[in-house]
Amino acid sequence: MNTLIFLVIAFGALTITVKTSLEFRNAICISTDRSYVYFDTCILKAVNRSYKYFTMRAKFPQKKAVNNISMSFALLRKANGYKPFLYNFTIDACKYMKKRANPVVRYFHSWFEKYSTINRTCPYGPQDEVVEKLPISFVNHVATQVLPLPTGEYAFHTDWYFYGIKVAIVKVFFQIY
Ligand SMILES: *[C@@H]1O[C@H](CO)[C@@H](O)[C@H](O)[C@H]1NC(C)=O
Ligand SMILES: *[C@@H]1O[C@H](CO)[C@@H](O)[C@H](O)[C@H]1NC(C)=O
Ligand SMILES: *[C@@H]1O[C@H](CO)[C@@H](O)[C@H](O)[C@H]1NC(C)=O
Ligand SMILES: *[C@@H]1O[C@H](CO)[C@@H](O)[C@H](O)[C@H]1NC(C)=O
Repeated sequence: MNTLIFLVIAFGALTITVKTSLEFRNAICISTDRSYVYFDTCILKAVNRSYKYFTMRAKFPQKKAVNNISMSFALLRKANGYKPFLYNFTIDACKYMKKRANPVVRYFHSWFEKYSTINRTCPYGPQDEVVEKLPISFVNHVATQVLPLPTGEYAFHTDWYFYGIKVAIVKVFFQIY
């Protein structure tokens, strides 16, 4: 009996792992305080059917390095509008980059770190900080092999704070099917 349940669970997990795939729908980068940061690029670009990428470029007009950054992160899932799903928390991003102790952030960070300058300890800026041509196929591989989320439409909603001042909102919409 226990063996049977185990097999059902194992096959269920296997099916999800093999079959799910991820598609990015939209990305929105909003500056809420342009004196600290703004985005000159925030696009999902489809080069052809198999090659689609995300590029984001953040500019720091104060020409000063930023040493105090926090981020609130929420995962939302669509069900009569987008509702919080599993995660909604705030972290000290500089502390995270030093210790990488938060497994949830570490996981979502792994979706883009290799294609980004957001890969080191603080400070950030004054040079541009970028996510450069992150291939969606790469995210698809990492996301669906490691954490099979149930199928559906999702969004990340991240709010960014410099020295406690809300400077930006970045939202990424994706579908798991
Ligand atoms: C899609 O574009 C990439 C980059 O230009 C290229 O390497 C790849 O061969 C193209 N794939 C198809 C199916 O045309
Ligand atoms: C996350 O939780 C905070 C505090 O409870 C709430 O104000 C915020 O609206 C939530 N974020 C989202 C995107 O639902
Ligand atoms: C961070 O990314 C940049 C740009 O890809 C790269 O030049 C640099 O070596 C990376 N730094 C670390 C600590 O991995
Ligand atoms: C970051 O700045 C905020 C607002 O000034 C302050 O409350 C917080 O303690 C600072 N964080 C660190 C780690 O210094």
